[in-house]
Amino acid sequence: MLVLGIETSCDETAVGIVEDRFTLRANIIASQVELHAPFGGVVPEVAARAHLAQMLPTIYTALDTAKVTLDDIDAIAVTNGPGLAGALLVGVAAAKGLALAQDVPLIGVNHLRAHVEVSQLETGALELPLLALIVSGGHTSIVRMNDDGSFTALGATIDDAAGEAFDKIARFIGLPFPGGPHIDRLARDGNKDAFSFPRAMVHDGSYNMSFSGLKTAVVRELRRMQAAGIEPNLADVAASFQEALVDVQRRKVLAAAKAEGLEQIVLAGGVAANSRLRAVFAAECETLGFRLIVPSIPLCTDNGAMVAAAGANLLAQGVTHDLSLATAPGMGLDA
Ligand code: KG4
Ligand code: ZN
Repeated sequence: MLVLGIETSCDETAVGIVEDRFTLRANIIASQVELHAPFGGVVPEVAARAHLAQMLPTIYTALDTAKVTLDDIDAIAVTNGPGLAGALLVGVAAAKGLALAQDVPLIGVNHLRAHVEVSQLETGALELPLLALIVSGGHTSIVRMNDDGSFTALGATIDDAAGEAFDKIARFIGLPFPGGPHIDRLARDGNKDAFSFPRAMVHDGSYNMSFSGLKTAVVRELRRMQAAGIEPNLADVAASFQEALVDVQRRKVLAAAKAEGLEQIVLAGGVAANSRLRAVFAAECETLGFRLIVPSIPLCTDNGAMVAAAGANLLAQGVTHDLSLATAPGMGLDA
């Protein structure tokens, strides 16, 4: 059973092919990073137009990579939310066209769920229940994935998403967009204890987070140094900022896992590619006896394989959609 997954929710035109739910056959990404870089962020109209140009070539490259043809595909899965409205529309329209032409089922996939479910391509079927930290450019949530596969939100950021904080600080210190990977790299040469940046809400007993104060504190410190004629060590700033952000997530996620009696933790989404986040969770989970599941880096950031995997799960449950499938830019975790 081959499922082709299409992802166009943000700035990657991506197509994955998954066989029998757990085997990755192709994962092709046409990145738009260079198109958006001059603007310092994703421009929705530019993204939608680029998806349109890249959609068919990416589908055909994925088919070639998997050494199959369209006629071998048993179902078409597509991210229909959350994401940028115009960008989602391109993927959903392409998926509908393919499903109709090939007379195969169409499956709408929730991007956030797909970030978590992609792990099954590396670990096999996820054992439920588990706790997931979904950290991306647009979302930062701590969720419980229940026995029946449903999600219960336990906490979320009340302001910036973690990836957004990475991208904004990167931009402020002159690093290219998207800034997360650049901060990650720069921080490796820095001292994480050089600055003591705030860890908001860590003692409030909730599993919510806030990163906007952290962002302001970093900016204020850089301006203070500038005014005092001090040349900031940007590697130290990056490392200390990253440490504060990772520390908040570590504390919140582990507190949630303990309170919920969950023994498995999945890190999901683009920020789960962060080397410090991965290292801190690996060490902490080892010490405390939690099973940690972290996708390999290409499966953390947006990709088509995650959509194919989540679509294959829905198909196995008999869930498919008709051609009236709508895009849902504001789709939540429970859709
Ligand atoms: O999941 P994703 O690819 O797209 C969304 O669904 O938003 O996440 C993108 C986010 C961006 O903010 C990017 O800067 C961040 O993930 N990111 C990282 C790293 N790699 C990607 N943040 C920190 N460290 C990284 N290594
Ligand atoms: Zn994503």
